[in-house]
Amino acid sequence: MQILLRKLLHTMSRKRIEFDVFQAVGRRTYSTRKLADIGQPTPASHPQLMKEGEITPGITAEEYIGRRERLLELLPERSLAIIASAPVKMMTDVVPYTFRQDADYLYITGCQQPGGLAVLGHECGLCMFMPEATPHDILWQGQIAGIDAAKEVFRAEQAYPMSKLYDILPDMIRRSAKLFHNVQTATPTYMDLEAFQKAAYVDKVKALSSLTHELRWVKSPAEINLMKESASIACQALLQTMFHSKKYPNEGMLSAKVEYECKMRGAQRMAFNPVVGGGPNGSVIHYFRNDQKINDGDLVLMDVGCELHGYVSDLTRTWPPCGSFSSEQEELYDLILKTNKECMTLCKPGTSIHQMHNYSVELLSKGFKELGILKNDKFYHQLNPTSIGHYLGMDVHDSSMISCDRPLKPGVVITIEPGVYIPSSFDCPERYQGIGIRIEDEVLITETGYEVLTGSMPKEVKHIESLLNEYSLGIGMENHKSVRAATS
Ligand code: GLY
Ligand code: MN
Repeated sequence: MQILLRKLLHTMSRKRIEFDVFQAVGRRTYSTRKLADIGQPTPASHPQLMKEGEITPGITAEEYIGRRERLLELLPERSLAIIASAPVKMMTDVVPYTFRQDADYLYITGCQQPGGLAVLGHECGLCMFMPEATPHDILWQGQIAGIDAAKEVFRAEQAYPMSKLYDILPDMIRRSAKLFHNVQTATPTYMDLEAFQKAAYVDKVKALSSLTHELRWVKSPAEINLMKESASIACQALLQTMFHSKKYPNEGMLSAKVEYECKMRGAQRMAFNPVVGGGPNGSVIHYFRNDQKINDGDLVLMDVGCELHGYVSDLTRTWPPCGSFSSEQEELYDLILKTNKECMTLCKPGTSIHQMHNYSVELLSKGFKELGILKNDKFYHQLNPTSIGHYLGMDVHDSSMISCDRPLKPGVVITIEPGVYIPSSFDCPERYQGIGIRIEDEVLITETGYEVLTGSMPKEVKHIESLLNEYSLGIGMENHKSVRAATS
């Protein structure tokens, strides 16, 4: 009895102490609590995902500060960068589409929420205008990052609530010689300011992407790790989907399967709507309907990628769900595979995507002619109107301001994606009509050459056929070890 009484008194006095401390420190306790949830993962809230010192998984506060320093080096004197966060697009009145942050805003701040504006200048450093959530917003959408988080988590030199923007930004704009803003995401919040409009009128407003794409083009070691992880998830997911295809030759089911497998491995979202084209749908380059069954004997072309903590993957494989390539499919497949491999051997510092593209056109047009598919070079573009590849990073077609003529550097990631897309009505032997094939890999340029980030996803005819025939049925995540063994 005495022990029980002592326990009760002890508990009561602890409660009293907690209450007193809360009363004594008042706001401070409240603000610490607010910071514990800033609307996105932190090392405190997601220790399984993030290390101390990271602002987003895999990227430290120092790296974000370094990015801003490098952007300031590119930013002319007395210039200002105005970087808007992406808007939330609404499906209906209160139902939003999935949110994806603007890549420049994420690259510079690490902040993953909508509604903010970041301003970077030589005098002000990083100045973040943060959205203000009402209790009603918090009830419906949860906590968000405010000005405390801007300073303490995102390390902004200055932070203000959005409502102060009209008092502060016009003066900053008036004092600036030039303004750089992320044109694609520009918002009326600042574009409607008289000071901004005056600056635009006298041609002082430029595209920020000409500077940020320069920085984002070459990946840091931390970014390369995330790119590798994102590629590895996409490869594993695509392999599982290939196994699934024999039993479920249906575009929609394969699209669902690949998305499931990516998200089960930690991806936040798909990098783009997967392209799952069976038979002639494979010759529609960005086919997105994914609503047909795949006929026995047809190929399926799958172009997929996922996004992992801001970094995307992008790869394509084409295979026959029935388990064997027909002879005409194999002839064309061999040509695309040879082009994929030969272009890859050109990957090294100093070569450009454009040079590889020209080489791929040479190889493909020669091959198409030998197969009797192409009679005249002027029709080449009807069989393949795409570039051999593009830069890859936070966006699928990343750093688009950097010309494809630019000599590659170590740390740049590109895709190599030769293909053939033969319309059903194309004037060529009937057996080739309606065939679409693309083989796309991600390649990291290194000091001495290249590293294929999607190399674990099989692409040899014999390898694909044996996987489909020997390992397909009943294989799922639970049998992952045997799948790994089969592909190694
Ligand atoms: N995989 C999408 C594209 O390269 O356009
Ligand atoms: Mn691509």
